[in-house]
Amino acid sequence: MDNKTLLEIAEKAREYSYSPYSNFKVGAALLTKEGKVFTGCNIECASFGATNCAERTAIFKAISEGYKDIEKIAIASSNSENDEPTYPCGICRQVIVEFGLDIKIVTGYSKGKIYECSISDLMPNYFSKDEM
Ligand code: THU
Repeated sequence: MDNKTLLEIAEKAREYSYSPYSNFKVGAALLTKEGKVFTGCNIECASFGATNCAERTAIFKAISEGYKDIEKIAIASSNSENDEPTYPCGICRQVIVEFGLDIKIVTGYSKGKIYECSISDLMPNYFSKDEM
């Protein structure tokens, strides 16, 4: 699946964002190496620390259904239509590297500029199980 299509799916998933506190809507679409797509949105909570980002929602859905070979994750946010890419937060980066340093991150706007990088570009010197 190409980046534009995956980003369109992330933009659709963004519609389900539950973000009454920040009003910042985020959607994610995760593509597995088998070609299966899992979507997610950010889910906020009155106890702010319990908030879950769109990326982790999609990852946890995939893992909990038996899919852990992740090829790429597309992210769309309230800023996408302004051609401002949104990259994963630090907690999500740590969760993403757990499942592969070659995972691609796609962001931007499906009808505008699309950016792609590898999670290893965003997370140098990450903490890994090898350090435990
Ligand atoms: N958020 C995400 O869902 N993904 C990101 O990559 C950045 C931040 C959410 C968390 C919170 O609901 C809102 O955006 C503002 O931080």
